[in-house]
Amino acid sequence: MPTKPYKKQNKRKLIAFFLKGSLIFYILSILCNLVFVFSTVLLPRIVGFTIDSVLDTVPVSGENALIASALGGVEYIRSHYHVVLIAIAGLAVIAGASKFLNLYIGSNADERLIQRMRNTLFSHIQRLPMSWHNKHRTGDIIQRCTSDTQTILTFISTQLMSLIMIIVLVAFSLTSMFILNAKLAAIAATFIPVIFIYSLIFQLKAKKHFKKCDEEEGVLSARAQENLSAVRVIRAFGRENYEKDKFNRQNEYYTGLWVRLLRYLSMYWSSSDFLAALQLLFIVAFGTVFAIKGSVSPGELIVFISYNTMLIGPVRELGRIVSNMSKAGVSLERIGEILNSTPEDYGQKSQPVHGDIVFDKVDFSYTEGVPVLKDLSFTIKEGSTLGIVGAMGSGKSTITYLLSGLYPPTSGKITIGGKDIRDISPATLRGSVGLVLQDGYLYSGTLKDNLGVFDSSMEEIEHAAKIACIDETIKGFSAGYDTVIGEKGVTLSGGQKQRVCIARTLLRSSPILIFDDSLSAVDSETDSKIRKNLLSEFENATVIIISHRITTVMNCDNIIVLSDGAIAEQGTSDQLIEQNGIYKKIYDRQISLEESL
Ligand SMILES: Nc1ncnc2c1ncn2[C@@H]1O[C@H](COP(=O)(O)OP(=O)(O)O)[C@@H](O)[C@H]1O
Ligand SMILES: [Mg+2]
Repeated sequence: MPTKPYKKQNKRKLIAFFLKGSLIFYILSILCNLVFVFSTVLLPRIVGFTIDSVLDTVPVSGENALIASALGGVEYIRSHYHVVLIAIAGLAVIAGASKFLNLYIGSNADERLIQRMRNTLFSHIQRLPMSWHNKHRTGDIIQRCTSDTQTILTFISTQLMSLIMIIVLVAFSLTSMFILNAKLAAIAATFIPVIFIYSLIFQLKAKKHFKKCDEEEGVLSARAQENLSAVRVIRAFGRENYEKDKFNRQNEYYTGLWVRLLRYLSMYWSSSDFLAALQLLFIVAFGTVFAIKGSVSPGELIVFISYNTMLIGPVRELGRIVSNMSKAGVSLERIGEILNSTPEDYGQKSQPVHGDIVFDKVDFSYTEGVPVLKDLSFTIKEGSTLGIVGAMGSGKSTITYLLSGLYPPTSGKITIGGKDIRDISPATLRGSVGLVLQDGYLYSGTLKDNLGVFDSSMEEIEHAAKIACIDETIKGFSAGYDTVIGEKGVTLSGGQKQRVCIARTLLRSSPILIFDDSLSAVDSETDSKIRKNLLSEFENATVIIISHRITTVMNCDNIIVLSDGAIAEQGTSDQLIEQNGIYKKIYDRQISLEESL
């Protein structure tokens, strides 16, 4: 089901937006439920008038007369009383079928609704800019996509549906009761607000208890998780008993909370049962008096009581539903917050851009007031190679993010072939810049799936793998390119992973290639082989190589030494060695280390 792009809206419109496609099923489901309820309501009535008019001789009046005439009239029923049995059996079949349809259609509606919510959220999150992702923790986003959507689903499919049903049911029962006997109905009705308010107050309090339990469960599972991930450290430092006691204390506290909550709930149910029994007592007492006086027949009294039983359950339920409704409001707000964030406009993908890359007085900070790149200016000639070296945190990766348009510069501009990258659609820009990330991520799945994400042919995949010096390794696996990697499959070494990531980027055949420390886990021999392959296969590409290893960048046409977000030195390797600065120092350290090895 393709999801239309989401437009900003408030909570009520949000619900309406989510309900598109499932609303009709919900309505059908309610109708089936009403058929079910009314068929179960009719049953006691037939029994009632059978007792009164068929077995006894009380004159049939009101609605009972209607039902009796529908079944062929009292006289007919008296001689053919199997008609009553058939009517009862028929109603039971209708009740069963309508309940089935109610549940079946309802669950269908639920699945449609939650699918729409998740699809809308997911595709929106996919298009949100990096700056948004920076501000939100993954766990929180996942929670919004799973448990908040579930809360809204529960709200619509259970609470809202129940509310509608309860209102219809209460209105129907009360009306019928008033038609049967207005005085008795008035007595029954006076209890309704009392029972409702009583249950509402109780449920509101119970909600607080439930919330506390939820929170403490979170603390408990966090503690368990922390322990399991740190199990080595705990063993190594002999802290098992300390950790065990800590966990036990939290567990005991948590259990205590549940015991208190359950005691509270038992109290509620028993006291609320008592209230309901009290109401019934009043009805029976007055009903008997009225029956003796003759203003109500015994059959009518039985019908009246069965209506009343039908009334009390839903009224109690109403308190729980109303008290839980606010939960959905919070979830809607949390989801609305995501959906109302402005997504990135990818635009149309057109021909890749190529040309000289110019950083012109670029400033950048992730968080206001903490500059990461400072007044950065440099040019990379089309088709040349640039090496970037610098300490950890000096801003090397940030440069690549800016060039890929993942973040806009805070000030200054970046141009490719004279064109400001802000004027290039993200789709085109990302097709032009092939980035091999520092911590490349491979999806769980086969190697072919990972490499062929851009609809490449098998030959192209193998060719790219050869350039990245990973083809032989892959062919060494028994399943070759169909080898499953990730959690359920083969674990690749860091170097193998890096080379798969390189091959994956090469398959995009972007004119600009960036390798962000992508050869760090590869031995220097393979490193140099890969670079040689690259230069011969992608002569026309503009290449940026970021590395800790001097030998990796040594042969670049130009090298930038980055320090604290600014250019400290710039030139060819020979020029930089001559300058006798930072580069020379790193060079000396690494080269002498390599020689000594
Ligand atoms: N997503 C981010 N949010 C906030 N600060 C960040 C983020 N990524 C990196 N930084 C900070 O920006 C600086 C430069 O980081 P980075 O470009 O990754 O450096 P390098 O690649 O040279 O190690 C560091 O101080 C780092 O802490
Ligand atoms: Mg980095």
